Amino acid sequence: MRRLFVAGNWKMNTTLASAQKLAGEVVVGVAGITELVDVAVCPPFPHLLPVSQSLANSRVMLGAQNAHFENAGAYTGEVSIDMLVDVGCRWVIIGHSERRQFFGETDSQINLKVLAAFQRNVDVIFCVGEALDDRNSGRTESVLSSQLKLGLANVRIEQLEKLVIAYEPVWAIGTGVTASPEQAEGTHRFIRDWLAARFDRVSADAIRIQYGGSVKPDNAKQLLSLPNVDGALVGGASLMSNQFLGIIHAAADLARLSGE
Ligand code: 13P
Repeated sequence: MRRLFVAGNWKMNTTLASAQKLAGEVVVGVAGITELVDVAVCPPFPHLLPVSQSLANSRVMLGAQNAHFENAGAYTGEVSIDMLVDVGCRWVIIGHSERRQFFGETDSQINLKVLAAFQRNVDVIFCVGEALDDRNSGRTESVLSSQLKLGLANVRIEQLEKLVIAYEPVWAIGTGVTASPEQAEGTHRFIRDWLAARFDRVSADAIRIQYGGSVKPDNAKQLLSLPNVDGALVGGASLMSNQFLGIIHAAADLARLSGE
């Protein structure tokens, strides 16, 4: 079993005070569990530094929700990977469907961001996912293949240890609808086979593929127990510490079971 990885994408939520409080509650709630499961939180940019301080001396990792691919320069409103590293980020989410949908991020921009993060030794949660129309018309696999092919262009095999894929069906994000276990497992297996064909089987088998889209404490165990689901990228439920911790505890229970 791959080591499960639960990450919270806080999106454009929290105040400075609520971000610090939430991070503090996560730190307390995961005591002893980060031996078994990887945990990260991804706050909005202005809250990265204070949250990084709240996470000090814990194994909860810090991630950002986006970055620019250039290192510095006249890019008003953008944030570089180096800036993220400076405030303690180990991870960056790249290619989230909300960035693609609302901010027009293209596959080639996403690819430049992925490459820039690897170059600066930052780990990437690379998001892919199909819209409802795509799924209903049988285009899921072609959409995912294209996102993977373009987003991971020029990625070298030795960089894969810094890559996590998040499969987030757009129709499941924030809707309360999750992919069924069959849909999630089938799609994750498709992604893993695609990675095996593009790189090699051993590397593909080591890559963690998170599921994202309405993950809650009451569906986490079922989703995380699927053979090709290696964690969760959690939106809404990551904003309430009891819910986020419920998901992390579900992952830890599965890790314990698999270690027995
Ligand atoms: P929800 O968990 O709110 O559906 O969001 C999922 C997501 O987009 C995580 O990146």
